[in-house]
Amino acid sequence: MVATAADASQQARQYHLRGVVELRESWKIGPVEVPTRLVLAPMAGVSVQAFRRQGRRYGAGLVCSEMVSCAGIEHRNEKTLGYLRVAADEHPLAIQLFGSDPRAMGDAARMVEAVGADIVDVNFGCPVRKVTRTGAGAHLLDEPESAYRIVAAIAESVDVPVTVKLRRGVRNGSRACLELGPKLVEAGASSLTLHPRSAEQMYTGTADHALTAELVSLVKVPVVASGDVTSRVRAQAVLAETGAEAVMVGRGAQGNPWALREIVDGHAGEPSCEEVAAELVLFIREAVRELGERRASGFLKKFYGWYLGQGRFPKPFKQELLQLESTEEVERRLLGAAPGAVSLLEALEAEIPTGAENTLELPISIYGGG
Ligand SMILES: Cc1cc2nc3c(=O)[nH]c(=O)nc-3n(C[C@H](O)[C@H](O)[C@H](O)COP(=O)(O)O)c2cc1C
Repeated sequence: MVATAADASQQARQYHLRGVVELRESWKIGPVEVPTRLVLAPMAGVSVQAFRRQGRRYGAGLVCSEMVSCAGIEHRNEKTLGYLRVAADEHPLAIQLFGSDPRAMGDAARMVEAVGADIVDVNFGCPVRKVTRTGAGAHLLDEPESAYRIVAAIAESVDVPVTVKLRRGVRNGSRACLELGPKLVEAGASSLTLHPRSAEQMYTGTADHALTAELVSLVKVPVVASGDVTSRVRAQAVLAETGAEAVMVGRGAQGNPWALREIVDGHAGEPSCEEVAAELVLFIREAVRELGERRASGFLKKFYGWYLGQGRFPKPFKQELLQLESTEEVERRLLGAAPGAVSLLEALEAEIPTGAENTLELPISIYGGG
């Protein structure tokens, strides 16, 4: 559904009146109910299952996998971090695909739907050259017809809603998303997420959410605002100013699930050292289960800095963890430094459902971005 000019001006009047927006309020993408207005961003090399489950526990209403290569399904040659797993406590879960061939994208979408995706998300934002030179990711912002065909092929292939995540355009100052967005809705997209930076910009400068407000006024489907949201105040300002249905949080949640709780519930205050250690140890255990010890130990290194920084632990402690040989030693050091974390960890582990999990041999790309 594309909005008419009258719809747009009516919406514009509503934003003016919007005032403070409640974050703990449900909304819908097609038939999928999303319990809060906070979405956890897809981040390649970050959004593993442990990250997604943690995000749900701390208030994200929707979580998204890192981007999965549809080319990898056919050629099995994608350099991978691991394989996709879907657990019962992740839902609603979006699984993000990237690729350039509509038929292969449709096939991949059927596979991710079968494994339990509640939503199939399409990546039209990844600025990394290894991805764009294959005709995927942000390259499609300059190829509206191909982009349309991809979304239409996926929408025909699956019953679950299809959503698209875009950047503003390829070049700085581009407004391509405003032309493309409504076309993608015509092709069958049930929601759009906009990260209003250009691909050229990568992560420099700031996200220009005036563009998000324009996109909101052009389409009738829900829009999610992504970029530079790290606090409740900022989340509410972006929701009020843009009329977006929800905000997406990425970097602000790295090693900091407490930021999600602050955004959703206004629960301010830094976590204690015990809480940080308990969450990090749980994260380590889950990452090892998911990726295996060898891959997990490399993958986890950046998380040590994210969790232990911000003045939570002394700098030399982090350096010490980075030197340790195994994740078991890291755990021992963490629990030694914060013994009160042991009982917190037990409580956390008791809460997490065990049992059947779906796994899918679909390579997760290590070339991230969007
Ligand atoms: C390390 C990293 C990896 C990312 N990977 C993806 C990805 O796989 N798919 C995607 O659509 N966006 C990806 N993004 C973009 C984020 O989803 C988000 O749009 C962006 O970081 C802006 O939000 P933020 O300011 O809250 O981080 C990635 C961002 C980062 C920092």
